[in-house]
Amino acid sequence: MLTVVKLGGRAVEEPSALKELALRVAELPGRSVVVHGGGAEITAWQERLGLGVVKHNGLRVTTLEGLKLTAMVLSGWVNKRVVGALLEAGLDAIGVSGEDGGLLTAERKDGGALGEVGTVRSVRAELLERLLALGLTPVLSPLSRGPEGMPLNVNADEAAVAVARALGAGRLFLISDVPGLLVNGRALAQLTPEEGWRLIETGVAVEGMRVKLGGAIQAAEQGIEVRIGDATVLSDPGAGTRLALVPGVGGVV
Ligand SMILES: Nc1ncnc2c1ncn2[C@@H]1O[C@H](COP(=O)(O)OP(=O)(O)OP(=O)(O)O)[C@@H](O)[C@H]1O
Ligand SMILES: [Mg+2]
Repeated sequence: MLTVVKLGGRAVEEPSALKELALRVAELPGRSVVVHGGGAEITAWQERLGLGVVKHNGLRVTTLEGLKLTAMVLSGWVNKRVVGALLEAGLDAIGVSGEDGGLLTAERKDGGALGEVGTVRSVRAELLERLLALGLTPVLSPLSRGPEGMPLNVNADEAAVAVARALGAGRLFLISDVPGLLVNGRALAQLTPEEGWRLIETGVAVEGMRVKLGGAIQAAEQGIEVRIGDATVLSDPGAGTRLALVPGVGGVV
């Protein structure tokens, strides 16, 4: 069973939280591919450097300056901190960005309306398979190979969904700083794709969660078990919000 684990930016920011996450990833049965975000860290640096922070429907509008910063923060600092924590936890982790080996290629999203933001066009699944076959745990920064040798900024949830679908993963765990999909302050146990779209349309799932839920639905529709939540999702099969293709317990309002 292959598990794709996406670690959100705020979830990996605090060293002790990252250590805890890494230990839980190391205990997962079967093989794992890790994808990470880093939105909070990028925002902090944008503000520190006096660059504006503009988001549109949960996606970061990215200038060329912002792209450089994103590449430095995500493929540099954050990627290596996740790799470091996983190595400490006993996994043979290797850090790569979507750019490396052309693992992820992307084209400008919405014809460039968001600047240097990409949508994944292809995943070089066989290269990831080869890394896995060597016993390595790939740790992917979502920066992807764009046109003319330049990267594009791809949302980490979108990258994780593309990787999970391309690898035919059995499970996709979207680990964030919330215990699940919150409705009226409470995490839902599960929801169907139809219910998920309704939460997006009605503005219950907004900002980063809007993107996350949209991707989660796509992955679930391909038969992947998807769960959204915090670190407990990695060790407790009942934790977080599960995307289910058929209605069951824990419906939405
Ligand atoms: N209905 C909702 N339930 C839960 N969280 C929600 C909801 N609507 C919006 N959110 C927001 O979505 C956030 C999670 O998405 P966000 O993109 O900020 O983090 P991430 O994806 O974990 O990290 P990164 O973007 O760095 O990969 C939550 O912190 C919360 O503020
Ligand atoms: Mg996000």
